[in-house]
Amino acid sequence: MRHLLSTQDLSRPDALRILDTTEEMAAVSGREVKKLPALRGRTVVNLFLEDSTRTRISFEAAAKRLSADVINFSGKGTSVSKGESLKDTVQTLEAIGADAIVMRHWGSGAAAQLADSGWIRSAVVNAGDGTHEHPTQALLDAFTLRRHLARRHGTAPHGTDLAGMRVVIVGDILHSRVARSNLWLLTTLGAEVTLAAPPTLVPIGAGDWPCTVTYSLDEALATAPDAVMMLRVQSERMHDAFFPSAAEYTRSWGLTDERLARLESAGVDDAVIMHPGPMNRGLEISAAAADSARNTALEQVAHGVSVRMAVLYLLLNQKESV
Ligand code: CP
Repeated sequence: MRHLLSTQDLSRPDALRILDTTEEMAAVSGREVKKLPALRGRTVVNLFLEDSTRTRISFEAAAKRLSADVINFSGKGTSVSKGESLKDTVQTLEAIGADAIVMRHWGSGAAAQLADSGWIRSAVVNAGDGTHEHPTQALLDAFTLRRHLARRHGTAPHGTDLAGMRVVIVGDILHSRVARSNLWLLTTLGAEVTLAAPPTLVPIGAGDWPCTVTYSLDEALATAPDAVMMLRVQSERMHDAFFPSAAEYTRSWGLTDERLARLESAGVDDAVIMHPGPMNRGLEISAAAADSARNTALEQVAHGVSVRMAVLYLLLNQKESV
């Protein structure tokens, strides 16, 4: 594989190879000298045509820790805002020396279109395309869950999958590339996934996905899951969907203080709360749940750097990449 576009493309051995390489990168990041020379002389372009905090900064940190040169490029303040096409933009970036283009784009399928276009030779990494996929977010979530499982069993995470883990993904599934990428990856790794959402925020066709769908968060929490992944309500995309009022959403699908207490007494002592960020405190998650010791949001962010180091390393530094 030359690109990372979707977790649906990843076989179980592919996914384990990335997670195991991430363990090695995390060990480097924990050392006093954090830099590796692996990508010296290579150039990574972060082409972000939609806003981002975590993903863009994390890819930048990852590339720098591998000694690559990094160019950050956004729509604002560039010729994209004058109407320059994606083709001309990426060919310009490659002429400047790009070896990899990490792209966030508002259009679903944009990363695959770029990879298949023949416009450039660079590796393409999907950093989030519309409502479609966000593969490195799912990889960092899987890495966090695998570490959690290994701690529970007192074993090493290397080579292991997520068999037996039960993960509930909650909220705005309709607009969530995070939910889609996690669904494919977590099930490839053997986890059982339940989607809990208002009926209007479940995509048509989700009944054919390899998961259980419920419209009741309380029913999902009663099954004592190992992890509850709260999704951001994507207000900026909500024009195409019926959204209950904020108060109704929080009452039925928010991780409130009361549901947090119930989760803590539901039988799985070390169940974790996950969130890809940014969090809407008071809407999909209460402040107490956001700040709870069970909430792995910042751990996920930290693992994101190691995951992205692994992905860039495997795509740019291997004869046979993932
Ligand atoms: N999780 C995530 O993609 O966050 P950003 O939008 O801040 O990159």
